[in-house]
Order: sequence, then structure tokens, then C-alpha cells
Amino acid sequence: VKVLTNTALSLDGHLAPADGPPVAIGSQTDRRYMSVLRARADAVLVGGSTFRAWPVPLVPRARALANLRAEGFFDVEHPPIEGRTWWNVVVSRTLDVPKSGRFYEDPRVKPLFFSPSSAPMPAEVERGEVDVPRLLERLAARGVETLLVEGGGGLLRAFFEADVVDEMYVTVCPMVLGGPTAMVGGRGFRFEEARRMTLVHANAFGDEIYCRWRRCS
Ligand SMILES: NC(=O)c1ccc[n+]([C@@H]2O[C@H](COP(=O)([O-])OP(=O)(O)OC[C@H]3O[C@@H](n4cnc5c(N)ncnc54)[C@H](OP(=O)(O)O)[C@@H]3O)[C@@H](O)[C@H]2O)c1
Repeated sequence: VKVLTNTALSLDGHLAPADGPPVAIGSQTDRRYMSVLRARADAVLVGGSTFRAWPVPLVPRARALANLRAEGFFDVEHPPIEGRTWWNVVVSRTLDVPKSGRFYEDPRVKPLFFSPSSAPMPAEVERGEVDVPRLLERLAARGVETLLVEGGGGLLRAFFEADVVDEMYVTVCPMVLGGPTAMVGGRGFRFEEARRMTLVHANAFGDEIYCRWRRCS
């Protein structure tokens, strides 16, 4: 499975403000661009905390795609979206997550949870300790070829620790947030272990910089 990550980062490398309600730190353009990246994937994954903050269908929106094109954005190509469905994958230890709502009702969404919890859910659950290589095997068995990991930090850390990230899309947002919300966090990698990437593109649009990095082979 090809693994892409998409994150909006502050100038100082943070995902979110330390306090306060959940907020998307990217611009409306950045949120529209999420639709392009989702259209390029067949599964979109988030962690339990991100799902609790935004328990919504993780699918491309036709209007966002059209608005992005109208804005003159530089990277708008994507496969057709009509008639497609997307695995929407949520990783949670507790399964203490919303159990009703649009996420479960949208015909484009195939909800799938990975969790060691035995809590009942209104959707399919792959039970057991969550381990990234096994999760990728289970998704491959369901026909997933491209997985888009949208965060948050807990999940990004697990994917970088497993060293399976093929491409990173990073939107650099014009603010400094400080605090403990570093994109990957954890104990960090030694210099020799650093996950190294090569730049595919970096384009300024509005006050943001949109970067795409590919894993060094
Ligand atoms: N800037 C961006 O692009 C962006 C994108 C997404 C999110 N965010 C921000 O990131 C923050 C959330 O990040 P986060 O790091 O707190 O949360 P997260 O990565 O969304 O979720 C962490 C949760 O994932 C589950 N989890 C993680 N590892 C697991 C494992 N090995 N096995 C089973 N479950 C596992 C647990 O869920 P349970 O608690 O359900 O057990 C854990 O609490 C929010 O502030 C959000 O706004 C920013």
C-alpha cells in the first residue's frame, strides 16, 4: 500500500494550538486541497482524537474541487470521483467515538475501525492490537492501493516509526503556535534514523506554502 500523509503545519512545525477547541489551522484553500488528495487515495485514515473532533465523511467534495480550480490552484489533477467509495479508517484504543451521524450514513463512505477494544460499533471493526504493518496488510487485502493518513500526531508518529510513509503533503501555515503539538512528537529519531525525503514541489499560494515530499529510495 502506498502511504501518503497530509498535514497543515504552523511555521514552527505544530499541528494544532495547545489549548482550545479543535480548529483547522489551514486556509479554506488548504481544506479544499484535501479533496484532491482524498480523490487520489482509496482509503483515508485518522486517529480517534481527530475523529472525535471531526466525525465527518473523509471523502472528496465536488464543490471544493471546482472552487479550487476556479481559484487557479496549481495542483488540481485527480481521478474521477463520481460513483466511487472510500474506506474511512479510524484507529482507536477505546472506541469511545461518535457512533451515529453523517459518517455512518454517507453512501460514499465504507467505515472501518481498527481497535483492541471489544466495544460494540455500528460499523466493521478489525479487532486486535493496532500495529501499522498489520493494518496495511489488512487494508491491502481489502483492495486498498493508496492510503491517505490525515493525522493527528499520534497516528503520524506510528506511521513514521514504522517507516512506511512514501509521500508527505505539508501545508506550511503562516502562524507560530508553540506548545506540545509537534507533527510527529514522541522521543524523536536520531540523526542517522531520520526519515529522509526529497522535494517533489513547493508552491506558494496565498500566505501558505504547499510542499510535496517523496521518500528517498
Ligand atoms: N494540522 C493538521 O493537519 C491536523 C490533522 C489532523 C489532526 N490535527 C490535530 O491533531 C490533534 C489530534 O492529534 P492527536 O495526536 O491528539 O490524536 P490522533 O492521532 O488523531 O489520535 C490519537 C488517538 O488515536 C488512537 N491511537 C493511536 N495509536 C493507537 C494504537 N497504536 N492503537 C490503537 N489506537 C491508537 C487513540 O484513540 P482513542 O483515544 O480513541 O483510543 C489515540 O488517543 C487535534 O488537535 C487535531 O486538531 C491536525
